[in-house]
Amino acid sequence: MTRHLALASAHSNIALIKYWGKSDSARNLPAVPSLSLTLDGLTTTTRVQFDAELSADRVQLDGALVAGREHARVVALLDRVRALRGFELRARVESTNDFPTAAGLASSASGFAALALAASHASGLSLSLEAVSGLARQSSASAARSLFGGFASLPADSEHAHQVAPSTHWDLRLLVAVTEEGRKPLGSTEAMEVTKRESPYYSAWVAHAPELYQEAERAIRERRFDTLGACMEQSTMMMHASMWATRPAIVFFTDATLGVVHRVRALRKEGLPCYFTIDAGPHVKVLVEARHAAALQRELASLVQVKRVIPCAPGPGARLLTDEGASC
Ligand code: DP6
Repeated sequence: MTRHLALASAHSNIALIKYWGKSDSARNLPAVPSLSLTLDGLTTTTRVQFDAELSADRVQLDGALVAGREHARVVALLDRVRALRGFELRARVESTNDFPTAAGLASSASGFAALALAASHASGLSLSLEAVSGLARQSSASAARSLFGGFASLPADSEHAHQVAPSTHWDLRLLVAVTEEGRKPLGSTEAMEVTKRESPYYSAWVAHAPELYQEAERAIRERRFDTLGACMEQSTMMMHASMWATRPAIVFFTDATLGVVHRVRALRKEGLPCYFTIDAGPHVKVLVEARHAAALQRELASLVQVKRVIPCAPGPGARLLTDEGASC
């Protein structure tokens, strides 16, 4: 079937239980199981058009042509689609984020999820969601989870993610406390490779991660907020501890990051149940039940360390859009 043009959107997901490290770098298979919440905000919209007139893939991100490594990562995904489809057509890719790219806000997750869905559909392939998740995973493992709405899991060594519970399962909020604007200095892919190679704590991280995953998955199914929050914080700190033990240490935390972490812990003591997580960037994402979200937002917004707060609810998986933006 020839289609050649498709538009898709996907949201970022934030790992409640972290993926950090690969069991097979060439195939981009995760060494540990991860568990995430797909958000209703932080959206990437991507249009892919295969065109016989093009001699090379042309990739635009937020209106600017991309080159180098970013271009190569997009081309690698398109090559996989072309191989599956059995054609050689080059593509025009236009992608926009409604939030800053590569700033520690999981732009590669929403980006590769939207690209995998748009490119496979534009090529005329009719793939299952799992197969599209597998395509996205080969580019960026966290992207595999953004194909699914609500709570999603990517098991260790797995080709694709799957849904654990839909977005309606639990009325949680994740407030993103942005502590710094601008691009992060080191990407996740490189940082996790260095951690695996150099950190004496990496093996302990990989050994303990499955147990934490099991406990968190059960807490989600049973909607036990404090258990999920405690697991999330421990997963966060174990992941960062493994990075801190490299030489030189990989440190994504800034003074502002730590300031927010301390405030979240203090708020909990003061009776506001909320828990933090931090990815490969300086921002702090804070998990809270919906009924406490407004109070938490006020607290976070009042901190000198916080530039702005992006409130997110559980959101849907990636979806195809018509050119006018409506779901199809
Ligand atoms: C800290 O998915 O960006 O956000 O597979 O190399 O592209 P690659 O890594 P990536 O790593 C995400 C790491 C994390 C934790 C997580 O999302 O699970």
